[in-house]
Amino acid sequence: MVLSAEECQLIQTTWAKLGPHLDKLGGEALCRMFCAYPQTKTYFPHFDLSPHSKDVQHHGQKVVKALDSAVQNLDNIRGTLADLSDLHAYNLRVDPVNFKLLTKCFHVVLGIHLGGEYNALAHLAWDKLFYCVADVLCEKYR
Ligand code: HEM
Repeated sequence: MVLSAEECQLIQTTWAKLGPHLDKLGGEALCRMFCAYPQTKTYFPHFDLSPHSKDVQHHGQKVVKALDSAVQNLDNIRGTLADLSDLHAYNLRVDPVNFKLLTKCFHVVLGIHLGGEYNALAHLAWDKLFYCVADVLCEKYR
């Protein structure tokens, strides 16, 4: 899937507006995922998964940092996330269906923080980005 120049611009503009919230965004998305889709907890038996625990916050920051690298390198998401692709496929063996679940939760969190700015076009652009990220993280399964 290819992101258009307009979609790249929309992603980068909205991401920049999230500035002060970026630190907690990932934790919020993970909290939602563990609550709405409890089966995803099985990948994190070693974490304290209570809402907003340090483990969840800290892991959320790592996920957001990875998303930030993707946003800053939209023309080379594959190269940028290559190490994470190996990790999720070979070490963690995360079932690809889970990426869709986390994506849904990120959409909600982005909508909460961006309000009206997270309109249909922004939603579509971000959906495509999450698709691309998940595609890279899952590609080693094939
Ligand atoms: C680890 C990113 C989706 C399960 C990680 C790390 C990052 C990351 C940056 C830390 C790597 C490191 O410490 O070197 C992402 C991104 C995702 C995603 C960008 C999609 C947008 C998922 C999903 C699951 C998952 C859907 C399972 C439901 C894990 C697990 C770890 C991990 C179990 C290891 C945690 C630990 O023991 O510290 N991921 N991830 N990830 N991820 Fe993902």
